[in-house]
Amino acid sequence: MSFRRIEDAPEGQRALVRVDFNVPMADGRVTDDTRLRAALPTIKALQAKGAKIALLAHFDRPKGKRVPEMSLKPVAEPLAKLLGAPVAFADDCVGDAAKAAIDALAAGGVVLLENTRYHAGEEKNDAELAKQIAALGDIYVNDAFSAAHRAHASTEGVAHILPAYAGKQMERELDALDAALGAPKRPVLGIVGGAKVSTKLDLLKNLIAKLDKLAIGGGMANTFLYAQGAEIGGSLAEKDMADTAREILAAAKGKCEILLPVDVVVATEVKPGVASTVRDLKSVSADEKILDAGPETVKRLIAAMDASNTLIWNGPLGVFEVPPFDAATVAAAKHAAQLAKSGKITAVAGGGDTVAALNHAGVSADFTFVSTAGGAFLEWMEGKELPGVEALKR
Ligand code: 3PG
Repeated sequence: MSFRRIEDAPEGQRALVRVDFNVPMADGRVTDDTRLRAALPTIKALQAKGAKIALLAHFDRPKGKRVPEMSLKPVAEPLAKLLGAPVAFADDCVGDAAKAAIDALAAGGVVLLENTRYHAGEEKNDAELAKQIAALGDIYVNDAFSAAHRAHASTEGVAHILPAYAGKQMERELDALDAALGAPKRPVLGIVGGAKVSTKLDLLKNLIAKLDKLAIGGGMANTFLYAQGAEIGGSLAEKDMADTAREILAAAKGKCEILLPVDVVVATEVKPGVASTVRDLKSVSADEKILDAGPETVKRLIAAMDASNTLIWNGPLGVFEVPPFDAATVAAAKHAAQLAKSGKITAVAGGGDTVAALNHAGVSADFTFVSTAGGAFLEWMEGKELPGVEALKR
């Protein structure tokens, strides 16, 4: 993919930088600063170019209204701490307040602009709002891969008005994703977990066309097992998706080997530390729920990892939030991390619960790359074009 990069930008510009500061917050405090840290390399690279840096971001979904609890103000201080430099705050992302705050910056100075979604035009990708935002800067840098599935004024519209550049985090995300699914070193193994087949249909269809092997876990595996006539007792499953599951298995035949659980961990309730049993697929009783993949399944998954050069992972294999049903996810994650650390495999993960699951296993740092994106990672895995990325191409 061909983009302008920050290295190509002229010195001393007013840079409008779209970041993703849609961070977890509780009682007005940032509780996980991963996305703030992710923005630092771009900010520092622009500082080195003497730019005046105005950060554009959304927070939550205020739907065009100034909802005080959805202000980005609480983000400025933790960001300043991480950066080791002051971060000013302007209480609007357009107009006089924003312009004055940017004008007041010295070269290398940083200001965080208020939530772009306080304006109804943001989510509508309104041309007038994009123009007003663009009026504040000389160049536009998009560093928010995780918001790139949204065609909004600050993620897409502005990119067509100002000279647009990919930020460092955007570059890292795109490089890693390309290594996992664009031009991967084969064989490529995918792991897809999560609750429902119905929310991951596009994903499954795209993956069976691109991967050599696909392991299906989590609640969605129950639907596949049910479709194949296995006993699943009182497990979470979408029984009305059985035909679809069979169609996916038929479409994968001869192209992509599908790995479904061969044994499962069951219990009668989802409670920490509850008594659990390993069962084969014929002996799950009516009052039992499948809550994790069994040890033989994990063994096969680990063997599949050993035989692969690339791994792409989205979604946990069991109810990892409630031990002991984290066992399969943790064992598989640890093995993948070990392979990645020793350079035997490229292991890329992302999307929703996946990061939390890998953090729970304590292995995120050893993966080749863990995406900061939720929805954008999924849409990219589905093979969809991301408007924020498309707008940067030249
Ligand atoms: C995210 O947190 O995944 C992105 O910032 C996108 O947020 P959204 O789903 O509210 O558009």
